[in-house]
Amino acid sequence: MSGAAVTVYVPGDASACSLGANATARALEAEAAKRGKAVRVVRNGSRGLYWLEPLVEVVTPAGRVAYGTVTAGEVPKLLDAGLLEGGAHALRLGDIGTHPYLASQQRLTGARLGIVDPASLEDYVANGGYAGLAAALAMKPADIVKAVTDSGLRGRGGAAFPTGIKWQTVHDQPVAQKYIACNADEGDSGTFSDRMLMEGDPFSLIEGMTIAGIAVGATQGYIYLRVEYPHAARALAKAIKAARDGGYLGADVRGSGKRFELAVRLGAGAYICGEETSMLESLEGRRGEVRVRPPLPAIKGLFGQPTVVNNVVTLCSVPVVLARGAQFYKDFGVGRSRGTIPLQLAGNIKHGGLVERAFGLTVKELIYDYGGGSASGRPVRAVQIGGPLGAYLPASEFDTPLEYEALAAKSALLGHGGVVVFDDRVDMARMARYALEFCAVESCGKCTPCRIGSTRGVELMDRIIAARAGANGHQAAHDTDMALLDELCDTMFNGSLCGLGGLTPFPVRSAVRHFREDFQRAN
Ligand SMILES: Cc1cc2nc3c(=O)[nH]c(=O)nc-3n(C[C@H](O)[C@H](O)[C@H](O)COP(=O)(O)O)c2cc1C
Ligand code: SF4
Repeated sequence: MSGAAVTVYVPGDASACSLGANATARALEAEAAKRGKAVRVVRNGSRGLYWLEPLVEVVTPAGRVAYGTVTAGEVPKLLDAGLLEGGAHALRLGDIGTHPYLASQQRLTGARLGIVDPASLEDYVANGGYAGLAAALAMKPADIVKAVTDSGLRGRGGAAFPTGIKWQTVHDQPVAQKYIACNADEGDSGTFSDRMLMEGDPFSLIEGMTIAGIAVGATQGYIYLRVEYPHAARALAKAIKAARDGGYLGADVRGSGKRFELAVRLGAGAYICGEETSMLESLEGRRGEVRVRPPLPAIKGLFGQPTVVNNVVTLCSVPVVLARGAQFYKDFGVGRSRGTIPLQLAGNIKHGGLVERAFGLTVKELIYDYGGGSASGRPVRAVQIGGPLGAYLPASEFDTPLEYEALAAKSALLGHGGVVVFDDRVDMARMARYALEFCAVESCGKCTPCRIGSTRGVELMDRIIAARAGANGHQAAHDTDMALLDELCDTMFNGSLCGLGGLTPFPVRSAVRHFREDFQRAN
């Protein structure tokens, strides 16, 4: 081997791996060895420009130089072209930070994604990590809660509840044992920001949970991680061990005399386990079934104790608030939607990936300026925002800003920030049927409007779809079925115990409202 080892970043992110990043990493090591060159391959997180994965970055004296898409087969040619020195090649992208997709983003929560080695505590600290905890340890718990309240941070898991108010409730409970439960079930279709953060910057979640624990007086945290995320499980296990070894977790966090312990629990593989009370049931070892509220988890949560339940993105945003101040965070965003939101662009889209921006970017800007339009090249007909329970928006609504209140005004929701794109070949009656089928399959079964209503809804949609083709009777029967569908949506919306049954009418009704022609009879 000749010379000092050159550091090469090859993402170990699950999506990058599914696109061949492991083979690329192995090829780099093998081909460099053949050439007598020393390389140190670091498995970083993804930058979130998924159409360029595997995206390889080489550390040169002039900075990091990116190449993409680098398949294993390209590696020998790239090494011949001087990849280890940042040499010229058709796949050379230069400094990826200056790529318009990234340069125009406002990465606060995901600031370190793709930049740091997720397994290295030193790297985390060197890139601004644990500054939030240091600030928090110098404050009174009530002042930490106040900073989070003042920042305007609202939960990124879906319900957008003000995080500071939730923390205040737990803080105010006069009991010894409290918990922090991180919701890492990430069940929404087209979403991956939790996964990216846990795989690419796991210490930020650990830091956020530690700050939460110190703020509300909780000594134990659990991460409820969806079982389908093995890469995240490995990244978290390594990071938790490093944090404990470094004195950032345990009986005496950074010599403060405060205790905070952390453990990961794998999820049970059901969508409903992401609903916070089902998640608590599952964490306690039972079947994921929704609990009746009140009492709220903040008063009587895990094992009957006061519990903060927060999403991964929410908790990863907390260190930013503490390190840079509530006002800094609050200065991003619009109206009551403060800070930034990591939007996840998926479906039929040319440039899918992670776009973190202050609230207020329009759907149009997201899918055209960032996404580059549909992957198929056909017109975009609809987007579904906020997962399987989110509404569909037609092209005429693409000027809507991506923020909580503007979407609510359109009977839509932002949820966890997932945006799934469909071209003009989508059959919206079938999408409405799919929403009801999803609800029927995933229902926990506790309440009737959801358990029975979803199944009756699928049957109704089957009749409506059959009638479209001129089958199954006459116009009057079709009209009755459409009226019945509307009534069913009313019942599910008003009568369901939780958001699964309660929000399923959103995709169904929005499909009927905006794409009625797909539900009409052919004649
Ligand atoms: C059916 C259903 C599924 C949910 N799935 C998730 C999930 O996968 N991840 C998540 O963070 N929140 C999910 N939520 C929202 C949680 O119930 C809860 O509001 C959230 O974890 C609170 O954290 P936050 O305030 O930080 O958003 C779901 C809600 C419902 C009704
Ligand atoms: S709405 Fe569905 S998932 Fe929610 S409690 Fe009722 S049956 Fe369970």
